[in-house]
Amino acid sequence: MECMTKRFAVVHGPNLNMLGQRQASIYGRQTLAAINAEIESEAERLQVEVDFFQSNNEGELVTHLQQCRARVQGVVLNAAAYTHYSIALRDAISAAAVSTVEVHISNVYQREEFRHISVLAPVCIGQISGLHSTSYILALQALVIDETPVTPTSENAKDKVLLLSATPLALEVTKPLHTRAAQLQLQVEEHLFKEAEIINDLQNNTAAYAGVIVATDKQMGSEESSVLQQALTMSSLPSIAIGTPAAKKSPALFSACRGVITGFDNTAHGYLLALNALVR
Ligand code: DQA
Repeated sequence: MECMTKRFAVVHGPNLNMLGQRQASIYGRQTLAAINAEIESEAERLQVEVDFFQSNNEGELVTHLQQCRARVQGVVLNAAAYTHYSIALRDAISAAAVSTVEVHISNVYQREEFRHISVLAPVCIGQISGLHSTSYILALQALVIDETPVTPTSENAKDKVLLLSATPLALEVTKPLHTRAAQLQLQVEEHLFKEAEIINDLQNNTAAYAGVIVATDKQMGSEESSVLQQALTMSSLPSIAIGTPAAKKSPALFSACRGVITGFDNTAHGYLLALNALVR
């Protein structure tokens, strides 16, 4: 019988061969080889195949992306600096017509403004930023199957996750989120930004929570927003901001969180990935 194993391409752009030696305060100490090994073992767990490519050269990346057409079922792409200006890479993704997830090791929204712009995002199915090697792992999970639960790895896994939003979230988000949380032995506590005790919890009750998921789709008052930003920035809890394609981007809240997940058309998708990230 013909082998039906799905295959995915992991593509790294310029300077990522320098990971481990390059700006450790921003990118951490993990080498590219170590990140690839982590992706490889996640691929084994998901029973898919992955191949890896790194180049410092825009043309080589274009050629490699073109060749992904019909060869793989999806691409995990960290185009590094090319993300912010390469129309050639954007065209290559469109030409390849393969689902592509844009990833970044660092949270680009905490950095210079030119890094907040991605010319690739409109042709990618989503963007995951700031979670180091976990950005790649979530991207692979997003491509393979969003229903794949992960098993909590931390021995003393906390049992609660805070879900913060401006207005109550739709059932199409919260229902799958609660189901996934139950599989992970977690409880999701939903709260609105404006509840004062939540701001307090972010600072003083951190032992109770595994992390925070922040819905940034709905507009909130600027005063509310700055109080929340400050609380998130000062909190020791890992936090992940979620944005959807329809939403106005909220770089201020994006920069207050450790990681950012945007794009992903399926409304619940980003939230499920965030849960996976918090239990890793
Ligand atoms: C990067 C962020 C880019 O802005 C930068 O040019 C990189 C790496 C990241 O993974 O955080 O080289 O893509």
